[in-house]
Amino acid sequence: MTPATDSKTIDRKEFMKQVGISFGAIMLMNCLQSCGGGEIPDPDPNGNSDKVDFTLDLNSSTYNTLKNKGGFVVVKPQNIIVAHTNTDTFIAVSSICTHESATIDYRASTNDFLCPNHQSEFKADGSVQKGPATTALKKYSVSSDLTNNTVRIFE
Ligand code: FES
Repeated sequence: MTPATDSKTIDRKEFMKQVGISFGAIMLMNCLQSCGGGEIPDPDPNGNSDKVDFTLDLNSSTYNTLKNKGGFVVVKPQNIIVAHTNTDTFIAVSSICTHESATIDYRASTNDFLCPNHQSEFKADGSVQKGPATTALKKYSVSSDLTNNTVRIFE
């Protein structure tokens, strides 16, 4: 007599292979659900992570020239020139000339910026006053607190 052939039998190796595939599929689905459906928290929910926003302490020897009208500093690594005008306000623009990337200077007597490389001139708001530069410097907002000797530069 021969054994009945209508019932399926699998050997131990085949059973383990099928269980392994099923387990792998379940684990993959769980991973995809948790990886794809989960929210990664935004480190800056206000979306300001790449915005300039810093405060200078004018009591610091690095920035104390800003206490005086006509004084200016170039802040690194942001590459922003901050100036104290003769009318006792503060202005800030990108310190990188839009012509060929030289570092610009502030001229208190005319309240503007001069590039020493090819003499481009920029107004206090960063717009081009004289070429060869044709593109304005980026202007930043400034608020000052002279009681605490701080100047905030932001956008
Ligand atoms: S690099 Fe400033 S004018 Fe040329």
